[in-house]
Amino acid sequence: MNAIAEPIPTAAPDARSDVVVEASGLQRGYDVRRGRFRPPARLQAVGEVSFRLARGRTLAVVGESGCGKSTLARMVALIEKPTAGGLRLVGVDAVDTPSARRRELRQAVQLVFQNPYASLNPRKKIASVLEDPLAINTTFTRAERADKAQQMLARVGLRPEHANRYPHMFSGGQRQRIAIARALMLSPRLLVADEPVSALDVSIQAQVLNLLSDLQAELGLAYLFISHDLGVVRHIAHDVLVMYLGHAVEQGPKARLFERPLHPYTQALLASTPGLGRPRIVLQGELPSPLNPPPGCVFNTRCAHATERCRGERPLLRVLDERLVACHHAERFLDGAASAAATFPATSATPPQESST
Ligand SMILES: Nc1ncnc2c1ncn2[C@@H]1O[C@H](COP(=O)(O)OP(=O)(O)OP(=O)(O)O)[C@@H](O)[C@H]1O
Ligand SMILES: [Mg+2]
Repeated sequence: MNAIAEPIPTAAPDARSDVVVEASGLQRGYDVRRGRFRPPARLQAVGEVSFRLARGRTLAVVGESGCGKSTLARMVALIEKPTAGGLRLVGVDAVDTPSARRRELRQAVQLVFQNPYASLNPRKKIASVLEDPLAINTTFTRAERADKAQQMLARVGLRPEHANRYPHMFSGGQRQRIAIARALMLSPRLLVADEPVSALDVSIQAQVLNLLSDLQAELGLAYLFISHDLGVVRHIAHDVLVMYLGHAVEQGPKARLFERPLHPYTQALLASTPGLGRPRIVLQGELPSPLNPPPGCVFNTRCAHATERCRGERPLLRVLDERLVACHHAERFLDGAASAAATFPATSATPPQESST
C-alpha cells in the first residue's frame, strides 16, 4: 500500500531535469534477533517515504531519535539498499543500477557526518584527504590534484598551509569544513548531511551553516539535511519532512510548516524548540517501540487529539494547505488555534468528538 495520495510538493517547482533526488515509497526494514528460540522480529526503520529534491534546494528531515532519519540518509547516499520503493538520483534508477553507472552515481552523492573527526583518517594529512578521491576517480595529474585541493581549502575558509596538517590539529568547526571540502572534491550534485552541525558550538554552527548556504548558491547543490534541531532547520531548509516512527507525518515548504503546522507531532516538535516564538510545550510520553508500533496513526499514543478513528485507521498523507499531512483531524488546525495544546498525555485531554464527515 502506498501512503502517498498526491504528487509530492517538497521541492522547488523547477523543470524535471532539475530534480536531483526522487524517492517514491522508500522503505527499509530490518530483521532483529530476539534470542535463540524466538523468530526474528521485523523492525520497519523507514516505511514509505517519498519526496523530490531539486537542484539548489535543501530538504530537512526532522524527528526524534530513532525515527529513521539516518536510515533514510543511508539509502539516499547509496550506502544501504531499500527493501522496497524507488530511488532515482540525477534521473538514474539508483536501486537497480548496473555497476558502471553506480560508480557515477556514487560521485554524484556525497556524505557529511556529525562527527568530522571520526570520518577523517587521523594518519592522513589534509592534502591527501582532499586529493585521494581525485586520484581514485579522475585522471588528474598530481599537480592538478594539489591545485584543486588548494582551491577547495580556500573555498571552505581554510589556509593553504592547512594542507600539511593532520586532522587532530584542527578545531571541530575547521574539521567540519575539511569534511565538506572533501565531499565536494568530486563535484557532487547532492550532499547528504547527517546532523552536520550537531556536535559544534552554536557560534560555529552558524558559520558552517553559512558556508553550506554559500556553497549551495554557488554550485547549485541539493542538500538532504538531517537534523533534530528545528532552530538549525529554520535557517537552512527550503522544505521539511517530519518523521515519526519511520513514517513521514508532514512534509512541505518550511514556511508553511513553521507558520502553521498541521500535524500534532510537528506542532509538538516546534513547541519543544526554544527560540521559535511559540509557547513551550515539552513533548511527553515514551516513543513506542518500532518493533511494536501502535495500530492506526503511529502518533496516537502521544496525541491529545486522538480519537477512535486514529487508534484504528492509519491516516494517509494527503494534500492540505500546500503541504502533505497524515492526520485525520488536520483541518482542525487550519486556523492555528488548537495547535498550542497539541500534545500532552492523552489521558489528560478530552478527546475531540469524531466529525461525521
Ligand atoms: N542495522 C540495523 N539493524 C537493526 N535496526 C536498525 C539498524 N539501523 C537502524 N536500526 C533501527 O532503525 C530505527 C531508526 O534508526 P535511525 O538510526 O535511522 O534513527 P535516527 O532518526 O537517525 O536516530 P538518531 O536521531 O538517534 O540518529 C531505530 O529503531 C534503530 O534502532
Ligand atoms: Mg541518526
